[in-house]
Amino acid sequence: MAGLLHISASPREAASESLRIARVFTDTYQEVHPGDEVEHWDLWDGSLPSFADGAKAKMTVFGGGQPEGAEGLAWDAARRVFDRFDAAERLLFSVPMWNASVPYVLKQFIDVVSQPGWIFAVDPDSGYRHLLAGRDKKVAVIYTSAVWGPPLGPAFGSNFQSTFFNDWLRWTGLTDISEIRFHPTLTGDRDQARQRADATARDVAKSM
Ligand SMILES: Cc1cc2nc3c(=O)[nH]c(=O)nc-3n(C[C@H](O)[C@H](O)[C@H](O)COP(=O)(O)O)c2cc1C
Repeated sequence: MAGLLHISASPREAASESLRIARVFTDTYQEVHPGDEVEHWDLWDGSLPSFADGAKAKMTVFGGGQPEGAEGLAWDAARRVFDRFDAAERLLFSVPMWNASVPYVLKQFIDVVSQPGWIFAVDPDSGYRHLLAGRDKKVAVIYTSAVWGPPLGPAFGSNFQSTFFNDWLRWTGLTDISEIRFHPTLTGDRDQARQRADATARDVAKSM
C-alpha cells in the first residue's frame, strides 16, 4: 500500500483525544500527499483473530515444524493480519494509556503479528534480527493519557505505554519513529495541551 495506514487503539469514538489528533494528522498528510491512500484500521472492529491456536502454531514453527489443522488456520489468519500491517510504507498508531500501559487490543495485535520469519529471527549466539529493518518505513505514534504526564512523579502512575510500544517498534526494525504526545494531566491546561499536540501532529505529518 503506497500511503498511510492509521492503526487505532481507542474505542472512545467521538470522545477520543487520540482519534481527534489522528484526524489532524491524516488531514495534513492528505494535503501534503494528495495522491496517497489513507486507510484507517480500528483494532476494535473485530478484525483481530484469537491467538489461542496461533500460540501453539507459533511454537510449532519455532521448532521447525509446519502448523496443521486448527493451528494451520490460526497461522494463516495471523499472516493475513501481518500482511495488512506490512503492506504500509507509512504508519500512524494512536495509542491511549490504559492502566499505565496500552489497550489490550494493541497487545493482541502485537502478539498476532510478531512471528518468527515475519517480524524477527533469533540466533542463539548473536540474538534477535529485526526483519522490518531497512525498508524505509516511517512510523508516527500518538500517545495520550489523562493522569500520568512526563513532569509528574510516581504518585501519578508509571509510563509502560510509550516505553513498551517504542521498544516493540524498534524490535521489529521500525526505528524511524516520531512521537506526538497529549498528556494534559489532571491540573494542566487541556486546550493548550491540545494545541501543542495538534501542532506536532501537523509537523510530523508533513515530514512523513
Ligand atoms: C481503561 C482505561 C484505563 C486508563 N488508564 C490510565 C492510566 O493508567 N493513566 C492515565 O494517565 N490515564 C489513563 N486513562 C485515561 C486515558 O489514557 C485518557 O482518557 C486518554 O485520553 C485516552 O485516549 P483516548 O482519548 O484516545 O481514548 C485510562 C482510560 C481508560 C478508558
